[in-house]
Amino acid sequence: MKLSALQSFKKNGEKITCLTAYDASFAKLFDACGVDMILVGDSLGNVIQGGENTLGVSMEDMIYHTQAVAKSMQNALLIADMPYQSYTHAQQTLENAKRLMSVGAQMVKFEGGAEHEASFKILQESAIPVCGHLGLQPQSVVEMGGYKVQGKDDAGANKILEDALLLESWGVEVLVLECVPETLATKISAKLSIPTIGIGAGVNCDGQVLVSYDMLGINTGHLPKFVKNFLTGHDSIQSGVKSYINAVKNQTFPNDKHSY
Ligand code: KIV
Repeated sequence: MKLSALQSFKKNGEKITCLTAYDASFAKLFDACGVDMILVGDSLGNVIQGGENTLGVSMEDMIYHTQAVAKSMQNALLIADMPYQSYTHAQQTLENAKRLMSVGAQMVKFEGGAEHEASFKILQESAIPVCGHLGLQPQSVVEMGGYKVQGKDDAGANKILEDALLLESWGVEVLVLECVPETLATKISAKLSIPTIGIGAGVNCDGQVLVSYDMLGINTGHLPKFVKNFLTGHDSIQSGVKSYINAVKNQTFPNDKHSY
């Protein structure tokens, strides 16, 4: 998918599908199945490296995996996560974003809102496309007191909405909303002209993302309620992935069972 197509998805009401990938083979398969966006997520810290959280992921890790994914993709839009502590000030953000773009990323994603104003603005000035990430921010799991739903009270909800509007004004092209109440995600998606991509944020986001290892049932530990194993009842990974794509497109996933 071309970056310019993002807006038309939202305008036409077609839901955007996204999955994480960390290597060439999975990326090739997801791309061939027709997923719209592939995210090289720093969730690789959990699912590839076996970490308890994503804080141990380095820029070198992200470059290695982004390069592998980029080699095998043809159609999907490739987004790469900026890892923990790789965007603490504007110049560092720009240098690290450029490194990810130079190995094939078409957009970079980082977590947080107004506190990163200088980073958002320098990427906007440098014409590097950015995906925001609000709500639950796994890189701030310690400060947030664990993996908890965000924006449940008025103050929390208003802060997320304000940040979302700021990010849009700073040129962010697409916004991931993680673990927020469905009502809040619905409101934000209606107010923004850029697409929102939900994970645990309800069906009214403009698209959905899942960690591929979760949606293929590879992760067998405790899983959040927004995860669904799409391999169940299918005899190939391709068929499971296509059923995820169809479920997002026809809005049967996520349902109330997967939402807050
Ligand atoms: O790292 C990741 O996989 C992510 C998704 C959960 C959105 O950021």
